[in-house]
Amino acid sequence: MFSARRQLINSFRQFSTSSINNYKVSVLGANGGIGQPLSLLLKLNHKVTDLALYDLRGAPGVAADVSHIPTNSTVKGYTPDNDGLATALKGSDVVIIPAGVPRKPGMTRDDLFNTNASIVASLALAVAENSPNAAILIISNPVNSTVPIVAEVLKSKGVYNPKKLFGVTTLDVIRASRFISEVANTDPTKEQVTVVGGHSGITIVPLISKTLHKDIAKDVKDALINRIQFGGDEVVKAKDGAGSATLSMATAGARMANSVLSGLSGEKDIIEPTFIDNPLYKSEGVEFFSSPVTLGPDGVHEIHTLGTIAGFEEEMIAAAKETLKKNIQKGVDFTGQFL
Ligand code: NAD
Ligand code: LMR
Repeated sequence: MFSARRQLINSFRQFSTSSINNYKVSVLGANGGIGQPLSLLLKLNHKVTDLALYDLRGAPGVAADVSHIPTNSTVKGYTPDNDGLATALKGSDVVIIPAGVPRKPGMTRDDLFNTNASIVASLALAVAENSPNAAILIISNPVNSTVPIVAEVLKSKGVYNPKKLFGVTTLDVIRASRFISEVANTDPTKEQVTVVGGHSGITIVPLISKTLHKDIAKDVKDALINRIQFGGDEVVKAKDGAGSATLSMATAGARMANSVLSGLSGEKDIIEPTFIDNPLYKSEGVEFFSSPVTLGPDGVHEIHTLGTIAGFEEEMIAAAKETLKKNIQKGVDFTGQFL
């Protein structure tokens, strides 16, 4: 079984100087609302010795800025000029992709599909060509569809490794810690909620039955679950047309990147929920599903089952699976036309 305590420890590990590692990490979309703070947090991560920042524009400026921070890594910024994408990607151990447009109020993540699908597919082609062995972390929405798009692109190039493709759902996990602590009046840094399924609305399934707060009143629990599922909308509404979550997302992305790097470097018991090629519900046609995963030197080391969960959570998962099937198929169909 996975340990919630272990997941919690992961979140504090990223700035530790105790392990010596040398990894190249590239960020595609590094000049964006997420890309900039994520680049900052990666510059502070001692496992990262080579940081490559790519964007259509502006990445050299971000790179120059964070390069003045006195940590032991080199930072370079790239644009499409002079084959910048290929150079940024070559030799990368981890590629993080937050490139793409964010939501405005009234939009769903799926409304981003038409714009972001081709951005992500084009970047995946470049990854397939230049860094086919890298672990790839997808942040661009709609994650439920962009991850299958990347898988299909990599398959078409014969370089798909299901152990190294991750949809980043860590923002749901950190939100759940914060929101449950507000309800239970506890320390959020000590709260850990396993969140499974996907990354949009009802596909986000927090397993409250696995926390210490499983007996909270039903109306409180229902409101908590709804807030975790629709936390993204809270930020989109508050930003009022200026985009979606960026700072909390950068925190979540940096945590997930650090956990993947920790796994690559051979650290044990590194567990994160993440949206991956998952056998759990494949027989029902759900190819990708977020489960707690132990990370290792090859990427995904072990995918954990959900164990015993409450009846209402089974129902939520059943609903999530139906939406996920459609989201995944949409990504697969798009890639068939794109390639
Ligand atoms: P943003 O508009 O601030 O930044 C996006 C960046 O991507 C821009 O700098 C843009 O120039 C760049 N870009 C666009 N096309 C590109 C390409 N082909 N190559 C390289 N760079 C390219 O948006 P943001 O707020 O940073 O959000 C980015 C994406 O992340 C959105 O799709 C958003 O929905 C998603 N997101 C996901 C999560 C999650 O939990 N997975 C959370 C928040 C946001
Ligand atoms: C989030 O959960 O905050 C992101 O997926 C961005 C969004 O569109 O809500």
